Amino acid sequence: VSDIVFLNGAFVARDRALVPVDDRGFLFGDGVYEVVRLVAGRYVDGDRHRDRLARSLAELRLEGGIEDGTALLDIGLDLLARNRIGVGGQALVYLQVTRGVARRRHAFPPAGTPPTVFVAASGFVPQRDLMETGVAAVTHPDLRWHRCDIKSVNLLPNVLANQKATEQGAYEAILVRDGVVTEGTRSNVFAVVDGVLRTHPTGPAILPGVTRAVVVELAREAGLHVEERAFSAAELAKAAEVFATGTTTDVTPVVAVDGRAVGSGQPGPVARRLGALLTARMTSLPD
Ligand code: PDD
Repeated sequence: VSDIVFLNGAFVARDRALVPVDDRGFLFGDGVYEVVRLVAGRYVDGDRHRDRLARSLAELRLEGGIEDGTALLDIGLDLLARNRIGVGGQALVYLQVTRGVARRRHAFPPAGTPPTVFVAASGFVPQRDLMETGVAAVTHPDLRWHRCDIKSVNLLPNVLANQKATEQGAYEAILVRDGVVTEGTRSNVFAVVDGVLRTHPTGPAILPGVTRAVVVELAREAGLHVEERAFSAAELAKAAEVFATGTTTDVTPVVAVDGRAVGSGQPGPVARRLGALLTARMTSLPD
């Protein structure tokens, strides 16, 4: 049986949730999205995801029809109930808003064109085995545009880089722009270089990951030396530890990059510690 999703104000079976060919998400990739995690039926950092969605929408000047992100998150909770998921385990809610349906022309459609709003929920099982063993990654040129801070559905460079990683048996592609590591195709990337935990600063070159921000906070609370300062591909190659963070990634240690071992080739103490702290936080968040 098909699950129930939300499309433009109605709850419908997924296989009947259809978007017209003139949807600007389909024609231009003119839309934004969010992926939010739930543990024990509660959102993990729902407010941060809601704020980022609002920011993405504002940057695209995409308005009208969505009063606020909280309403969309509530629809996600409704979907969990309707689909009977996430009761005992974990879940993901996917939110997408596009600039609606209009005959193809590059400039915005007429004012008042309603956005297309889509929400879906699914059960989620964290890949604990990968967090234990660590994963392989490959480096790949960052071929994306200069507004990677917007969580747009234009993910073609991410798709192509992630496919390259997949074909090489790797979990993630680490993107490199002008010799500098930006982030992963669906995660942010940290490295321990000369005893300092580093990750690319926020700005137009990366998505300001919710998990990234939380991990930086947890690391500082734990007394680690953290710098939001980019590291080069050369520094990546000699890092003692590398790990990826994200809503579906948590803290996943990277134990090999481009076929060469990172540090000892085993998950390192910083990744292990932050992974444990993140998991503990997720299961003990206040209402
Ligand atoms: N991806 N960087 C990119 C390019 C991402 O797509 C994501 C998330 C992240 C991590 O952000 P966060 O911690 O807020 O999830 C970083 C989602 C999960 C996805 O596309 O499926």
